Amino acid sequence: MKTKVTFQCSNCGAIYPRWIGRCNYCGEWNTIAETVPFKEKTQKSSEKTTKFSPQKLTDIKINLYTRIPSGINEFDRVLGGGFLPGSVILIAGEPGIGKSTLVLQILESIQKPSLYITGEESYEQIKIRANRLNIHSDELQILCETNIETISSLIENFPATFFVVDSIQTLYTDELPSAPGSLQQVKETVTKLVHIVKQTNKIVLLIGHINKEGNIAGPKALEHIVDCVLSLEGERTSNLRVVRPLKNRFGSTFEIGLFEMSEFGLQELVEPSKILVSHTSLNNPGVAFSAFIEGNRSLAAEIQSLVSYSSYSIPQRNINGYDFKRLQMILAVLDKKINLKLRQSDVFVNITGGIFISDTGIDLAIASSLFSSLNDVVIPSDIAIIGEIGLTGEVRNILSIDKRIIELEKLGFRRIVVPKSSKRNLIQKTKSKIIQVEKVSEAFNYIFG
Ligand code: TYD
Ligand code: MG
Repeated sequence: MKTKVTFQCSNCGAIYPRWIGRCNYCGEWNTIAETVPFKEKTQKSSEKTTKFSPQKLTDIKINLYTRIPSGINEFDRVLGGGFLPGSVILIAGEPGIGKSTLVLQILESIQKPSLYITGEESYEQIKIRANRLNIHSDELQILCETNIETISSLIENFPATFFVVDSIQTLYTDELPSAPGSLQQVKETVTKLVHIVKQTNKIVLLIGHINKEGNIAGPKALEHIVDCVLSLEGERTSNLRVVRPLKNRFGSTFEIGLFEMSEFGLQELVEPSKILVSHTSLNNPGVAFSAFIEGNRSLAAEIQSLVSYSSYSIPQRNINGYDFKRLQMILAVLDKKINLKLRQSDVFVNITGGIFISDTGIDLAIASSLFSSLNDVVIPSDIAIIGEIGLTGEVRNILSIDKRIIELEKLGFRRIVVPKSSKRNLIQKTKSKIIQVEKVSEAFNYIFG
């Protein structure tokens, strides 16, 4: 019998009877690939001998103490306290960002019987990395394997609680002839993995490379299969590494974990603001300091702007670490409300430290750094600036003003510009001088006056 071949988009999963260059559903180019049907079904669903034993909701007991902490605080914070038995945690990130390093350090810290299954590297390569990280755990065993049927059997039978599978792109199942890393293989192998983990109550840390667009193995297809998706992020030019939960079935997706990649692996950042704020750029035009909120924490931010005369008919605008549209809004407000002459200027803004900030509480600091660079005037080094900018040129209130003030004071700032409408409970107690402003123009008058 002739097997029926179909074509599937690796981005959105749409199926086509023949190959086409561009997916009609998601509009992506070159994502359609041949898919081949399963070789054989192992078991008909009617033959399954599942025993049904539903439980009354009121009878189900939750053991609050089943979480197993990794011992790495910044990682446990992201997980929501530790690992839950029977869960699959996907750690996704660009190649070379430090995923293998992170999982090896977790296995060392946890000190429980564990098996590191790899299809990416040889035994020697893992040993070299372990030596570099000073890892000599007795509990850790390594195996080079990529077949999911073998791996499933290992998870079931091998006397370990923790398993690492490095990486999903190397896994394959005997039941599919397509190549490892293809959409079909990735979905099928991860589904099998999750299935065995739920049955055995073991814990699997699964590594996945992401492509240039930031997708895990192309589609979003995996996110709903696993329990937790953690993204390991960082700029190539910076040592800062952020563990950000994209999905967490058993905890919040609010907290991030902060690490620094060092010569000896990932180090937890005890005082993260210190790496985000350099202090070497103090007393330079275009430099402003602020604070932003990530999860439950406040962190300091250093903003550097460069405004220069443009030789292009359309001036360039560029921002690293913040929303580009927000920059355009700030520029429009400065143009219309402050009459700042930026139309003929190239504008470059950089949030230092390699972090991306999605908190609008640094708007006013960005505006101040632009003013500072355009007019070549320095913002006094003891001033930090917080506040969101509204379309009428007003400085809007933001959340957690007190947390931000505390963080900035720790770094030595003694004058802090804040929105007038902010709640005043902490402001009255603080040692530093708090300047409350209603309008962007009022802030500029104080800072540059
Ligand atoms: P790795 O964990 O192999 O990345 P991934 O598994 O995500 O592909 O880390 C690779 C990079 O990290 C490599 O460029 C070297 C760097 N690195 C350090 O800077 N310090 C270290 O201690 C280790 C082990 C790696
Ligand atoms: Mg790796």
